[in-house]
Amino acid sequence: MASQTHGHLMILTIPHCERLDMTKILIAYGTTEGHTARIAECIADVIRGQGHEADALDLKRSRDAVMDPYDAAIVGGSIHMGKHDEHVRDFVRRNRAALERRPSAFFSVGVASYREMENARAYVEKFEQETGWRPAHVGFFGGALLYRQYGFLERLMMKRIVHSKPGNLSLDTSRDHEYTEWDEVKRFADDFLQQLVSKVASKINN
Ligand SMILES: Cc1cc2nc3c(=O)[nH]c(=O)nc-3n(C[C@H](O)[C@H](O)[C@H](O)COP(=O)(O)O)c2cc1C
Repeated sequence: MASQTHGHLMILTIPHCERLDMTKILIAYGTTEGHTARIAECIADVIRGQGHEADALDLKRSRDAVMDPYDAAIVGGSIHMGKHDEHVRDFVRRNRAALERRPSAFFSVGVASYREMENARAYVEKFEQETGWRPAHVGFFGGALLYRQYGFLERLMMKRIVHSKPGNLSLDTSRDHEYTEWDEVKRFADDFLQQLVSKVASKINN
């Protein structure tokens, strides 16, 4: 760890969290219908709003994404048929050690996160077993039912899934339905940044 003084601004550096005044954070995500991309962009906006740099990368398009340029990472993916996005699983398997060395968090997007938390937790537990990564922070965000975007089979499948579940998910396929609590997403990003700063501060003090 080192410190430098630039005018009145004290800049502190620690490994993988180079400068306390601005941190570069990766938000790497996997999406099928695009809803997780919206959540990733919302997280990136919160981070940028607090003066840090954030790159939201769709792992399907950025298959060779690496952690080297980043001080911290948030990884997220949606669930289809009980499984998290395969590009997210591959990314985490490839970059597990780098994720473990940095402040990092995971978020899971699915309809189960809306009033079916036992299943939502089980999906994440399975993801952790498959990748070997046990993130310190996990966000559970309700997904969206984009009935108008689904093909015939997907719509049928989703109707069957929704029908078999308790809760208030809609079966009205004439429109799309969103179950994401955007304030929760923003709070997750805020908490991550706060923990990042206090982690840096405690390293500086010790
Ligand atoms: C075919 C299909 C299967 C799905 N299976 C699950 C599931 O097993 N569990 C769940 O919680 N959500 C499930 N969902 C809901 C999605 O996770 C939700 O729509 C999410 O918003 C998708 O995010 P994405 O657009 O980023 O892919 C499913 C959606 C579809 C279309």
